[in-house]
Amino acid sequence: MECLLQKTEMKLLSTWLVLLIVNQAISILKTEEVTWHPTYHLAPPKGWINDPNGLIYHNGCYHAFFQYNPENNKEGTKYWGHARSYDMLNWEYLPIALSPSLEDDINGIFSGSAVNIHGKLVLIYTGVSDNFNKQRQMVAISSDDVNFEKRGVVIIKDKDESNFRDPKAWFQNGSWWVVMGSQTTDKLGEVLLYSSNDFFNWTYQGVLAGGNESLGYMWECPDFFTINGKQILVVSPQGIKQDGFNYQNLYQTGYFVGDWEPGKNYTIKKGFTEIDHGHDFYASQSFLAPDGRRIQISWLDMWESVFAENVTGWSGMFTIPREISLTDSGDLLSKPIREILEKRNQNTDIFDTIISSNQMLTLNNSVFSSEILIEFNFLNSSCQAIQLFLKEEPTIDEGVVLYVDFELNRLFMERYYPKYGLDKSNRSVAIDLSLSKLSLDIFVDSSSIEVFVNDGVAVMSSRIYPNNNQRKFSVAPVNGYVNISLISYDIVVKNQ
Ligand SMILES: *[C@@H]1O[C@H](CO)[C@@H](O)[C@H](O)[C@H]1NC(C)=O
Ligand SMILES: *[C@@H]1O[C@H](CO)[C@@H](O)[C@H](O)[C@H]1NC(C)=O
Ligand SMILES: *[C@@H]1O[C@H](CO)[C@@H](O)[C@H](O)[C@H]1NC(C)=O
Ligand SMILES: *[C@@H]1O[C@H](CO)[C@@H](O)[C@H](O)[C@H]1NC(C)=O
Ligand SMILES: *[C@@H]1O[C@H](CO)[C@@H](O)[C@H](O)[C@H]1NC(C)=O
Ligand SMILES: *[C@@H]1O[C@H](CO)[C@@H](O)[C@H](O)[C@H]1NC(C)=O
Ligand SMILES: *[C@@H]1O[C@H](CO)[C@@H](O)[C@H](O)[C@H]1NC(C)=O
Ligand SMILES: *[C@@H]1O[C@H](CO)[C@@H](O)[C@H](O)[C@H]1NC(C)=O
Repeated sequence: MECLLQKTEMKLLSTWLVLLIVNQAISILKTEEVTWHPTYHLAPPKGWINDPNGLIYHNGCYHAFFQYNPENNKEGTKYWGHARSYDMLNWEYLPIALSPSLEDDINGIFSGSAVNIHGKLVLIYTGVSDNFNKQRQMVAISSDDVNFEKRGVVIIKDKDESNFRDPKAWFQNGSWWVVMGSQTTDKLGEVLLYSSNDFFNWTYQGVLAGGNESLGYMWECPDFFTINGKQILVVSPQGIKQDGFNYQNLYQTGYFVGDWEPGKNYTIKKGFTEIDHGHDFYASQSFLAPDGRRIQISWLDMWESVFAENVTGWSGMFTIPREISLTDSGDLLSKPIREILEKRNQNTDIFDTIISSNQMLTLNNSVFSSEILIEFNFLNSSCQAIQLFLKEEPTIDEGVVLYVDFELNRLFMERYYPKYGLDKSNRSVAIDLSLSKLSLDIFVDSSSIEVFVNDGVAVMSSRIYPNNNQRKFSVAPVNGYVNISLISYDIVVKNQ
């Protein structure tokens, strides 16, 4: 069965788009020219979103649910919004899937996951009540993949119910399993494991993994899955302190690699490692595509950030879906899904040249909805650093600078939008600059940048707030020369 956008829903979508354009037009009149609603990322037409929920491929469609406040472009009472897609880039927004309505979910529908049971789309989510102090796991079922019937509470924690959320379910060895984000009585993060034969009657199986003081006070949004025979546990801890270049965001999302099978303990071989090194990345969730790829989507934002887009009626967006894999040495690789390659329109700029520090390579076209694919060849280069700018002019402070630092062997991303309260700040990641090449696959959308380094060895994702005249992309080496090949494309997603 094909997942096609339906006509009536297309009309709804275009109504939203008209509203959106009107909104943005008003804001242009009010302030300056900005175009921030993404063209190829999932973001709400209006309202607030945070965590991805219930990601699944089901009945011929990719479904993405999301933490949603439809009333308001701010944080607030949470619902589950719903979108579906045939390619994970072109999203059709569907009616809200879950709203607070029962005693146990009256304060909000928190995060959770989706499974297929006998062909039906089944959601497991955290219902919140008692002023957020009760967090209980609840189930809802759909017969048409759009409307959901609530079936009530299925998992209650014995003692303190105040930090027990975000069930991620899967089927393995004849049983259903679920991992839960939780907190110990000593205020440390942990992940609890439950199993069930029928998805309703769940049995506690113990602590799957837990942290110490260095790994925060609460672990949210656990995800547990197998790649290459290894079990990856992804968690989003709150309360990890900054440690040099690590853990610079308010909260983190990272992974462990280990071994597990039903009835055994999880033995961890590789400790907590951050997945993304930009300013904005949280609450990752993964699912299997029908061809076996493990796809991960995350919130491309961070709690307590500025959400400058909120003046145009919406807040928050998701990352490009990423195909994740594991190297033989246990490192997670993240690559943009290959579907995005089909969205490359004609290339807009192409260079293969050597530039020196008195020169600046500048793209002819402004960067709005683009991919810039760069390869530096170091066999024929000699410089201290390389700077890449997304700004009005490289000499103006405001904007983004990527900085390839040969001394520190790191890639830095500096972001600065003082008008919107974003101070000048760097994020960075260690990269091996002793190799003969460095590749940067840079995806820019209206208010985001995602930089994939050396085919997914590292990723940096950040929200950005350029005005329409701050989208000039240029590259220059510092003290020396560099051999660069570059090709840039417009990314064009139909129906948007
Ligand atoms: C689970 O299933 C796999 C094959 O799917 C099998 O190799 C393994 O032994 C099973 N584990 C248990 C505990 O039954
Ligand atoms: C729930 O599952 C447990 C363990 O499988 C079983 O002992 C119990 O009888 C079940 N309860 C119900 C109400 O089905
Ligand atoms: C916490 O756990 C990490 C990883 O297991 C370990 O490296 C570190 O020494 C531990 N810290 C404390 C304070 O126990
Ligand atoms: C799992 O670990 C706990 C303590 O960490 C231990 O008591 C238990 O025996 C272990 N279970 C298995 C199956 O190894
Ligand atoms: C946008 O968010 C800021 C906080 O970052 C808040 O002060 C402001 O009220 C919000 N504006 C709207 C229109 O929601
Ligand atoms: C960019 O513009 C210049 C001047 O118009 C032109 O000579 C050059 O070919 C263009 N470059 C590309 C890659 O299109
Ligand atoms: C380096 O660049 C110079 C000048 O363009 C060229 O003559 C030479 O062949 C290049 N060497 C390599 C190894 O690419
Ligand atoms: C960011 O890092 C680059 C490279 O190390 C440095 O030049 C720049 O000053 C840093 N910016 C801030 C705000 O620290």
